[in-house]
Amino acid sequence: MLDKNFLWGGATAANQAEGAVLRGGRGLSNVDLLPMGNERSSVALGDHKMLAWEEGYYYPAKDAIDMYDNYLKDIHLFAEMGFKVYRMSISWTRIFPNGNDDQPNEEGLKFYEKIFKELKKYNIEPLVTIAHFDVPVSLIKNFGGWKNRKLIDFYVRYAKTIMERYDSYVNYWLTFNEINILLHQPFVGGGIIFEEEDRDNKLEITYQAAHHQLVASSKVTKLSHEINNNNMVGCMLAGGSHYPYSCNPKDYQEAIKRDREGYFFIDVQARGKYPKYALKKFEREGLKIKMESDDIDILANYTVDFVSFSYYCSRTVSADPDKYKSATGNLFPSIKNENLPSTEWGWQIDPLGLRNSLNQLYDRYQKPLFIVENGLGANDELNDDGEINDDYRIDYLKKHIQAFKDAVEIDGVELIGYTTWGCIDLISASTGQMSKRYGFIYVDKDDHGNGTLLRTKKKSFYWYKKVISSNGEILD
Ligand code: BG6
Repeated sequence: MLDKNFLWGGATAANQAEGAVLRGGRGLSNVDLLPMGNERSSVALGDHKMLAWEEGYYYPAKDAIDMYDNYLKDIHLFAEMGFKVYRMSISWTRIFPNGNDDQPNEEGLKFYEKIFKELKKYNIEPLVTIAHFDVPVSLIKNFGGWKNRKLIDFYVRYAKTIMERYDSYVNYWLTFNEINILLHQPFVGGGIIFEEEDRDNKLEITYQAAHHQLVASSKVTKLSHEINNNNMVGCMLAGGSHYPYSCNPKDYQEAIKRDREGYFFIDVQARGKYPKYALKKFEREGLKIKMESDDIDILANYTVDFVSFSYYCSRTVSADPDKYKSATGNLFPSIKNENLPSTEWGWQIDPLGLRNSLNQLYDRYQKPLFIVENGLGANDELNDDGEINDDYRIDYLKKHIQAFKDAVEIDGVELIGYTTWGCIDLISASTGQMSKRYGFIYVDKDDHGNGTLLRTKKKSFYWYKKVISSNGEILD
């Protein structure tokens, strides 16, 4: 049996749900500038500089699903499903439009206060991501984003402002969403743009930015405990471990190497020091990471209280990848694993992989875990009666819930909660599409921005409600 206080709920992010990007005194963020279409990926990688909205592009984050105007309705629906927790992010530029303004924007602060009050009304615990792919554009233009050490202080001040202001509402905080995304999409993760002169030093720049984020994360963990001893601060990994394609030891070695690319961040955040394999890599590859004298102490003394992660799929690697077909997946390249089915977007479905990941993370960190994203991106069709019978989503979630229950009940993993991704349809981070839907609640909007925004409960809405009320005992 899961603990009676197990936190069931769902997750969204400001930039994928709120819209209203320039209303209420908000400033522009990196993720507002990800266009739909071919350029999305080169902008995300930091190779194509796009620091303003340009003619001829569609930017889905501008309006998203307009949760800015619909949050009352949406929270009401979450409450109807029985959510115990709602994971959301605060938009940095709603609080500090330029990232480092003298005064915070009161209108932005009030907006989230209204959300927290509404959640409190229904006894829904907020789980707040301080930065979900969110870097103020002004800090990118003036400081180069997280390349620059100055971002640490700006971020800490932003975090202090929201932690103090929302102290009576929020206990669970995440410092950076999928912090390892920095290695894969530097603009999305750190507002990093590679200028001509940076082209030969991309890796060093990226790891320097990572160091800044890691120090910022520790400082905020310290601060959060000073503000309120009951605060729980977590790190967040884009999870899903790597399988070797074969039992060739070289493939296994490759899997260890690739797992470590992500674990690197969590090793620092949860264990408090740079792992030796990373220091050796820096030495070997000539990466010179600048650190200040007290950084090492800060990292060592202020580790996170829990480890959270997203899980959509496992990944498969080989020492000789060109020999095999590839698969798409959340953020990282992977070889197609012939043992697994795939979603319409080619992400490989692997519930047992979730149980395996939970075990690996728990063995490694011995800290409570929290699955803060999991779900199926699928095309949903309304039938003639206006219903959405998303049995495929129920099937996906049911298998993943059973897998984490097995990890808890059979393997003894400590798990605090589970928030499904995109509990209401929102725009996709990788593609910008609306048609890649994850929600229990359908939002009437298409990939070109047309639609009434009407919210409709899907079949999975009623199913999840039963799952929550039975504390995961009824999955059918
Ligand atoms: C995670 C992100 O990478 O995966 C979310 O934290 C994202 O922001 C989610 O939406 C699903 O990915 P996608 O590309 O299908 O939206």
